[in-house]
Amino acid sequence: MNTALTIADLKERARRRVPKMFFDYADSGAWTEGTYRANEEDFQKIKLRQRVLVDMTNRSLASTMVGQNVSMPVALAPTGLTGMQHADGEMLAAQAAEEFGVPFTLSTMSICSIEDVASVTKKPFWFQLYVMKDRDFVASLIDRAKAANCSALVLTADLQILGQRHKDLRNGLSTPPKFTPKHIWQMATRPSWCMGMLGTQRRTFRNIAGHAKNVTDLSSLSSWTAEQFDPQLSWKDVEWIKERWGGKLIIKGILDVEDAKMAAKTGADAIVVSNHGGRQLDGAPSSIAVLPEIADAVGDLIEVHIDGGIRSGQDVLKALCLGAKGTYIGRPFLYGLGAGGKQGVTRALEIIRRELDVTLALCGKRDVQDAGPDLLYKPRDRG
Ligand SMILES: Cc1cc2nc3c(=O)[nH]c(=O)nc-3n(C[C@H](O)[C@H](O)[C@H](O)COP(=O)(O)O)c2cc1C
Repeated sequence: MNTALTIADLKERARRRVPKMFFDYADSGAWTEGTYRANEEDFQKIKLRQRVLVDMTNRSLASTMVGQNVSMPVALAPTGLTGMQHADGEMLAAQAAEEFGVPFTLSTMSICSIEDVASVTKKPFWFQLYVMKDRDFVASLIDRAKAANCSALVLTADLQILGQRHKDLRNGLSTPPKFTPKHIWQMATRPSWCMGMLGTQRRTFRNIAGHAKNVTDLSSLSSWTAEQFDPQLSWKDVEWIKERWGGKLIIKGILDVEDAKMAAKTGADAIVVSNHGGRQLDGAPSSIAVLPEIADAVGDLIEVHIDGGIRSGQDVLKALCLGAKGTYIGRPFLYGLGAGGKQGVTRALEIIRRELDVTLALCGKRDVQDAGPDLLYKPRDRG
């Protein structure tokens, strides 16, 4: 794993180890994938200020996100079907994050359940909530997250209906995998992935199967999930979710100043500026492009986080300079997981930590909490 030097290296390894339909599921965006690409490309347009001959000893990347200590301000984003990138993927990623001292966020649409992850971790993790039409089930999910001692609830606001991803449709993606000749071939050519999957019982949506009403077998589960995302979800629902949960609440999927103001009014603890990794509204701006205006509008009312397109520690630093207090990575940790299980996730975090540390120093700062707009290069700085 140590020979992987960049997130792009991990991505190439994952491509070779994960069956095509699941690798593509991670590496895809909605429709033209324009927003998915912009998320990454817009980070490249931001330039850093090189500063020299300043003391660079005793550097610190430690910070807080929603009041919780983090060894660096980078959390693992919630991602569905993570246990299909690697057997028991959510449990392994949660353990890697715990050892690293950063938050792990478990998706509602995970393969390993809340209870599975709690059984292999010692510190609290975060739980991401999708709101389903069956509100009794939503309430029970919240209660299960509480019982598992989760320390933040991440409410995803940008997936009331599902954006279309062509690759998934073309690949015939399904969970659990279908056994058509094409799919059998894709899996057979990935023997270590298959061995892992044969060695675990966790191959379906374990937060849902056996918990939601009328979901007893796999065919009832797939029709249930297709019907259950609630298109009527509104700001009013945030109230009861907040009350039922009673702990730290993060609203994820904010891309507009007006929505950011609404979110701040709910009394939530943080927002995540996000377009779901370019997987929902294709044609929307990149997360990093809208971060400054959102941070400017609500930064003194609510903690502002961001995800989308972060592929290096440099990207993390740029986001912090533009007003984010915390960042999340989705695909980078999935690529690590696909490439090498828990070790691969740890490697993804190490790569980002090293890049963040060196970049911060070369910008003339020793404490990540001092990151601000003065670290970014603007032509007028040339004087
Ligand atoms: C494969 C995949 C599955 C995802 N599933 C979820 C999910 O279940 N819930 C959610 O809130 N966001 C989900 N997201 C969005 C991520 O939480 C996050 O917003 C996005 O990955 C950030 O962009 P990045 O992948 O460029 O880091 C998913 C993203 C990916 C790539």
